[in-house]
Amino acid sequence: MADARRPLMAGNWKMNLNHFEANLLVQKLAASLTEQQLADVEVAVLPPFTDLRTVQTAVDGDKLNIEYGAQDISTHKSGAYTGEIAGFMLEKLGCTYVLAGHSERREYHNEDDATVNAKVKAAYASNLTPILCVGEGLTIREENGHVGHCTAQVVAGLEGLTPEQVKRIVIAYEPVWAIGTGKTATPEDAQEVCGEIRARISEVYGAEVAGAVRVLYGGSVKAANIASIMVKPDVDGALIGGASLDAEEFASIVRYREHVAR
Ligand code: 13P
Repeated sequence: MADARRPLMAGNWKMNLNHFEANLLVQKLAASLTEQQLADVEVAVLPPFTDLRTVQTAVDGDKLNIEYGAQDISTHKSGAYTGEIAGFMLEKLGCTYVLAGHSERREYHNEDDATVNAKVKAAYASNLTPILCVGEGLTIREENGHVGHCTAQVVAGLEGLTPEQVKRIVIAYEPVWAIGTGKTATPEDAQEVCGEIRARISEVYGAEVAGAVRVLYGGSVKAANIASIMVKPDVDGALIGGASLDAEEFASIVRYREHVAR
């Protein structure tokens, strides 16, 4: 990755861990990393909504250098939307990040690019940084349509944003066929799509904006494969699912510079 962009390792806990377990994991994670390691690499956790207050208390109470955020956000500001969580609520809980367009939301909750774009905008409206997720399924990959598919998802997700907003966004490339399957994309596969995403952002918003955007890879990332992914110039970090639920494993991913790339 380029030196100017601080690496980001974000743990997407998905629908795992109650608030007691969340507290334990955050404490363990912080204890497994030195101040220097947490300064070199930004670490974020994305717990379920019900854990956020607990994570906030742990982070604030012990002044932990760990960011946190939510896995979803309502497109609405407030009101009669039973079951939804609004941006202002997340902002008040001290969230830095919010995922938008995770493939599991796109697939199981029918979120299309327009909805994802509205969520990205809702995030900015509440001073949150969106992590815009894109990725192709196996059929598209087999038909060699992955680059076009992912860059189109990025352009649609960014629709209507100012260049300043785009500069601050985080994009996560997560090939759907590599999520939770143990099948990691090769470092070359990750670089190809992350590089094309940056190139497309450069075409639309200019090289300065594209050079500032962090692009993460996600899909079966673990301590054993992170180093070889991070050597790629357009990969600025990872969005980690299963491996982020284990403090030691997650901490080891954060320390990727100490591993030998294979
Ligand atoms: P896994 O790391 O469990 O494959 O999940 C990836 C993911 O979807 C993160 O958002």
